[in-house]
Amino acid sequence: MGEVDPAFILEPEHRPRISYIEGKGVPLIDLSPILSSNNVSAIEFEGLVKEVGDACKEWGFFQVTNHGVPLEKREKIDDASRKFFAQSLEEKRKVRRNEKEVFGYHDTEHTKNVRDWKEVFDFAIQEPTILPASLDPDDKEVTECNNQCPEYPPELRETCQDYGQEMLKLSYKLLELIALSLGLPADGFYGFFKDQTSYIRLNHYPPCPTPELALGVGQHKDGAVLTILAQDDVGGLEVKRKTDGEWVRVKPTPDAYIINIGDTMQVWSNDRYESVEHRVTVNSERERFSLPFFLHTAHYTMVKPLEELINEQNPAKYRAFNWGKFIANRKCSNFQKLNVENLQIYHFKISE
Ligand code: OGA
Ligand code: NI
Repeated sequence: MGEVDPAFILEPEHRPRISYIEGKGVPLIDLSPILSSNNVSAIEFEGLVKEVGDACKEWGFFQVTNHGVPLEKREKIDDASRKFFAQSLEEKRKVRRNEKEVFGYHDTEHTKNVRDWKEVFDFAIQEPTILPASLDPDDKEVTECNNQCPEYPPELRETCQDYGQEMLKLSYKLLELIALSLGLPADGFYGFFKDQTSYIRLNHYPPCPTPELALGVGQHKDGAVLTILAQDDVGGLEVKRKTDGEWVRVKPTPDAYIINIGDTMQVWSNDRYESVEHRVTVNSERERFSLPFFLHTAHYTMVKPLEELINEQNPAKYRAFNWGKFIANRKCSNFQKLNVENLQIYHFKISE
């Protein structure tokens, strides 16, 4: 990724500003009240539920500390990721992703049809992960997708599996808090994750000679239920602030996780909690690593507003759509430059 290929260059209105805003940033939430060893008072717990609900509503993004994920597990996967990406392109391409193998290494990712300044390695939580065989809405055929594992570093597979289990534990804690904040029972979301299509992504953003023209990830929303992201100390993640539409940088906070509401949760909550646009800027000096975990439902889930959250005054704002076809469509457009707009949840919006 030495020279700047025109495929990376953004339209002027999408280019990042080189100076960035450090204004009122995303909320920082201390999860220690729900660490299992703690004896938590009802008031303290209620307070936490409200804090999470407010952050979901006002920002769609928050950071958490005292989340219960052991630091050494995070360090281990970070180390494996750095070792993997430090190899030659030829070596990395041995575990390359393609139309059939949807997990693995990829260095030509597109967001909304512009190339991203990054390389990634995707690792599925469920082995095998079942996905639709094609984009055709009438084709019911599915395929079994397995992880591709590089020879080096040899511990990568186990490290990712182990870290994935930690991500699931944290996801379920967060889902309980989010469910309660919406007035649902704590386990209200638990039924959606049998045969889940969740995955971990290792991201590497190399230094970029023209950071004012390109982005590490172009502005986008995650399709997930929620995303749990670990970023290093370099910084670059920016969130579109709901109150004024400004791009605000998420300050790296040691050992914290960044949580964001994805499109699936937006639809489930019938727009009470919105999936917010974000992007990643790059810089000319330092490479950056990040580790998102995308919590996804099973491919056969029909995503639609939850019955408990709609009524006559607040009717469903979306038609049901099939998760597997939605994600397959997104993955296909990430893969190549298409001349049509990417599939988005608003394509399923019921007009008022
Ligand atoms: C993503 C993403 C942010 C980051 O991969 O969807 O938004 O900081 N990544 O790498
Ligand atoms: Ni994202």
